Amino acid sequence: MNPRKIIDKVHWLGAVDWDRRLFDALVPLPDGTSYNAYLIEGDDKTALIDTVDPAKTHILMAQLEKVEKIDYVISLHAEQDHSGSIPAVLEKYPAAQVITSQKAKGMLEDLLRIPEDRFQVVADGETLGLGGKTLEFIYTPWVHWPETMVAYLREDKILFSCDFFGSHIASSDLYVKDQGRVYEAAKRYFAEIMLPFRSIIAKNLKKLAPYDIKLIAPSHGQIYDQPKFILEAYDDWVLGEPKNLVVLPYVSMHNSTKLMVDYLVNALMDRNVGVVQYELPVADIGKLAISLVDAATIVLGTPTVLAGPHPAAAYAAFLANALRPKTKFLSIIGSYSWGGKSVEILASMIPNLKVEVLEPVLAKGLPNSDDLQRIEALADAIAAKHKELDLKDQ
Ligand code: FEO
Repeated sequence: MNPRKIIDKVHWLGAVDWDRRLFDALVPLPDGTSYNAYLIEGDDKTALIDTVDPAKTHILMAQLEKVEKIDYVISLHAEQDHSGSIPAVLEKYPAAQVITSQKAKGMLEDLLRIPEDRFQVVADGETLGLGGKTLEFIYTPWVHWPETMVAYLREDKILFSCDFFGSHIASSDLYVKDQGRVYEAAKRYFAEIMLPFRSIIAKNLKKLAPYDIKLIAPSHGQIYDQPKFILEAYDDWVLGEPKNLVVLPYVSMHNSTKLMVDYLVNALMDRNVGVVQYELPVADIGKLAISLVDAATIVLGTPTVLAGPHPAAAYAAFLANALRPKTKFLSIIGSYSWGGKSVEILASMIPNLKVEVLEPVLAKGLPNSDDLQRIEALADAIAAKHKELDLKDQ
């Protein structure tokens, strides 16, 4: 694949990874991904913004075959899916310098063993003139790792945003065409890596607000030629109130917990509370993460295994605790046969969640009519709490 022109002297380079299905050995990629690099040719200097995943280095190097010189390799983020090909680029262009933040420099030295004399560190707000094209670097920490920054091309009003605003979608499109599809993929990406750092992301959004942005060119997914769409979505995900939504991750071994889950889901629907259930052993955890962006309430469903929660339910609790969603209420439902401490163990696993715990419902064996009454009471309590806060539907 050849470089693709965005505007005069600014090209997309990179690789579309159609078949990748897992990122960081953790995050599902149902639609593959792309690693975007960008070539900017000034009158005096040429810069390459980011590179590609090491497995795709050969694609980037083929695209660079006719590029005679690169003066600067700009590393916005040290993670290897963007930095992994920097050593190969530096080998081809021995005079090239790596432009990056102080924090990223240390990481690139550690992760890729790039020699110290190849770096030029830029401060927050510093600019780099290429001749008729000026890049301004803006520190935007925690749009994945703490060292992340973005670059704004002043003359052309293009924001190179790294993981910020990215989406894992493999596509032949250079620009976003289907906003609905990109909305979900970008929300999944936000949920997986930025949700825990909402207060810092809010500061980053505020920092970018004064900039006149015509295009947002992220390091994954397609380029936004209508940036308002994704900026408004981020505002909602970061700053918006949680929605009138219950997320119900559950696992069931002999159907008792499943019966309780079904009963609660119907009871919530009868009370006009939005609900989404995930059967944990087979659920796409990315979809669960998307739901956690908006959920006002989490209800975990688990049977008792070896005197505690099912490991799949423990994993969901661990995930929710790590992602620190805006969730305000939490409860647990499930079954046991002779005892156990599922509720206590799960409750101890979520110290990061500042939630009010609503009365859990545990049934001995198959839920009986009393247990189902207690589920009705839980649905009443959730509906009342959501109403009290005047939560809007999703
Ligand atoms: Fe796309 Fe955090 O790397």
